[in-house]
Amino acid sequence: MRASARKLYIITGASRGLGAALAGLLIDPAHRLVCMARAPLPALQARAVAANCEFASVAVDLCDVAAAVAALESALAGVTHGDYSEICLINNAGTVLPIKPAEKIRAEEIMTSVAVNLAAPMALTAAFLRLTADWPAGLRKVVNLSSGAAQKPYQGWSVYCATKAALDQFSRCVALEQADLANGARIAALAPGMIDTGMQAEIRAVPAEDFKEQSRFLALQQAGALATPEAAGRRLISHLQGDDFGAQTVVDLRHA
Ligand SMILES: NC(=O)c1ccc[n+]([C@@H]2O[C@H](COP(=O)([O-])OP(=O)(O)OC[C@H]3O[C@@H](n4cnc5c(N)ncnc54)[C@H](OP(=O)(O)O)[C@@H]3O)[C@@H](O)[C@H]2O)c1
Repeated sequence: MRASARKLYIITGASRGLGAALAGLLIDPAHRLVCMARAPLPALQARAVAANCEFASVAVDLCDVAAAVAALESALAGVTHGDYSEICLINNAGTVLPIKPAEKIRAEEIMTSVAVNLAAPMALTAAFLRLTADWPAGLRKVVNLSSGAAQKPYQGWSVYCATKAALDQFSRCVALEQADLANGARIAALAPGMIDTGMQAEIRAVPAEDFKEQSRFLALQQAGALATPEAAGRRLISHLQGDDFGAQTVVDLRHA
C-alpha cells in the first residue's frame, strides 16, 4: 500500500463508551490510531496489533489541559502530510456530571466538567490546527462530540448543557476561520443521539430529586431506544468520511 493512502485518527476517551467503539471500528491496516485515555488500553492495543493497525495509546487526564496538548504535540512530532491522506482529531471524551441543581454544585465539579468537555477539546483543536497548518487542503478534520443538550436545556444539567453549547459555538467560529484559508481544516460538532454507555448509566444513577427527567431516561433505556456504541460509532464514521463533512458545522446525527 502507498503511504499516502493511510489515515491517522486521534481519539480522546477511547477507554469505553462511544470512544472505545470508534477506536474499534477504525482498526484497519490502512490506519494509525492515537488513543488518549486516562489508563492504558491493552485490549484495544492487542486488537489493533492483531489487525496490523498502527496503534499508540497516550495516558493523559484531560483535566490537565496543558498535559493533553503536550501529549498531542508529542504524538504528532515527526508526522508529515506525506505520510497520510487524512488526519482526524476526534474530541470524544466527556462527562455529564455534575447532575444536580446549580445551587448544589461545587466549584471543583464545574472545573472538571469545563476542562473535559470544553477546555481540553478547544485546546486540542487549537494545537491540532497549529501542528498541521502546513498540510494541504482537504486533509485535516476535527470532530467535536456535541449533544442534544447543547440546544435543549435540562433541569439538573446546567454545566453539561453549557459546555456542549459552548463547544458548538467554538466549532462554528473555527469553521469560519478555516473557511478563509486556502488549506483550511474541516470541523464539525456532532450530536450522536442517546447511546447505551456508562454516561447514560450515570444519568440513571443520580438521585431522582436532582434530575426531574430521570424516569424518562430510564423508560427509554428499558424500551431499547438507546443506540449501541457501535451503531452510533458507525453513523459518526460514515458522516466523518462523507464528502459533505464540515459543510454544516453543528449536526444532529439522528437527522443527518
Ligand atoms: N451517551 C450518550 O447518550 C451521549 C449523548 C450525546 C452526546 N454524548 C457525548 O459523546 C461522548 C462520549 O460519551 P460516552 O457516552 O461514550 O461517555 P462515557 O461512556 O461516560 O465515556 C466517557 C469517556 O470520556 C473519558 N473521560 C472522562 N473524563 C476524562 C478525563 N478527565 N480525562 C480523560 N478522559 C476522560 C472516559 O475515560 P475514563 O474511562 O478514564 O473515565 C471515557 O473514555 C461525550 O462527549 C458525550 O458528551 C453521549
